[in-house]
Amino acid sequence: MTIVQEPVDFDKLMGFVFRAVDEVGATLNAALVVMGDKLGLYRCMADAGAVTPGELAHRAVISERYAREWLNAQAAGGYVHYDPASGRYRLLPEQAVALTDESSPAYLPGFFQIALGSVLDSPRITEAARSGEGFGWHEHVGDVHDGCERFFRPGYNAHLVAEWLPALDGVVRKLQEGAKVADVGCGHGATTVLMGQAFPASSFFGSDYHEGSIATARRRAAEAGVGDRVSFEIAPAASFPGSGFDLVTMFDCLHDMGDPAGAARHVREALAPDGTWMIVEPRAGDRLEDNINPVGRAYYAFSTLLCTPASLSQPVGLALGAQAGEARIREVVTAAGFTRFARVAETPFNMVFEARP
Ligand SMILES: C[S@@+](CC[C@H](N)C(=O)[O-])C[C@H]1O[C@@H](n2cnc3c(N)ncnc32)[C@H](O)[C@@H]1O
Repeated sequence: MTIVQEPVDFDKLMGFVFRAVDEVGATLNAALVVMGDKLGLYRCMADAGAVTPGELAHRAVISERYAREWLNAQAAGGYVHYDPASGRYRLLPEQAVALTDESSPAYLPGFFQIALGSVLDSPRITEAARSGEGFGWHEHVGDVHDGCERFFRPGYNAHLVAEWLPALDGVVRKLQEGAKVADVGCGHGATTVLMGQAFPASSFFGSDYHEGSIATARRRAAEAGVGDRVSFEIAPAASFPGSGFDLVTMFDCLHDMGDPAGAARHVREALAPDGTWMIVEPRAGDRLEDNINPVGRAYYAFSTLLCTPASLSQPVGLALGAQAGEARIREVVTAAGFTRFARVAETPFNMVFEARP
């Protein structure tokens, strides 16, 4: 068979190369944002107004030469504003919110932290891809676990109590009166603590198979003063303890599990007869062509480095992937005996499903 080579369009080739220059800068910028976050550089700038490199270095107690080079890279990337007349750098109000306000849904450093952590682990994922073995959530560097918490929490703060729980049939009333809730795959417990704060009459049982995450979740609950109604156990989703739950929640974790179908069957057994299972998953269409956009790109990348290897590291290894889409999630849920399944809310990043027995 003769393969007909298409001619190379030089302008298109150079356009592709220059786009890649931007992306190499963006890749390196993940490290610079995490550096700025960990060294407190953005916070110092937000407090100080326009600074010289020397002033920033003094305030943050770092070397002036590093401060200057970091500031120049941030200015070139549009992460800080540079004024050539004064030689000073400052954060514009929008940059200050996105880079320093952990309570804002626009907060970004956590997103970069989980991305950088994933990249740091990529040599091991590359080897896993050769052998087909998995790579567990627990095996990742701490930036993946901390970044996950810091990336997701602002979205949960903005949507969980105000929009997602009210979208479930009759659940808020039960929570106000006193309900029993299991938060499965809870990680550092951001959602468990948040619900505990909002609904003091209810009891919340967080669980996760990762021991380190549960230790952090316990600390978070104690710090938030909700230890009386929020507790945590190390347990895989297919056998988390307890029964008669009014609500079971899973936030951004069903697709990470090796056996989501087994987990679904266990949720079915652990729920009260009129209970509700709330599943929050990354937003995705059912077909690849629906997800060829910036959010889909980021999620497929996380899925390659985090979610798919995590699932493959566990028994069954179904590997739904972070862009499984509604139809695939519905299949897994209804196969476990849930008769009702609906998408009840969504954001640019998440889809929220309600499943009932
Ligand atoms: C992306 S993180 C989400 C954590 C948390 N729900 C949140 O939204 O911040 C996925 C979590 O699923 C947990 N996980 C993965 N497989 C699990 C399993 N089979 N049973 C319980 N937890 C699991 C991981 O340990 C991790 O904490």
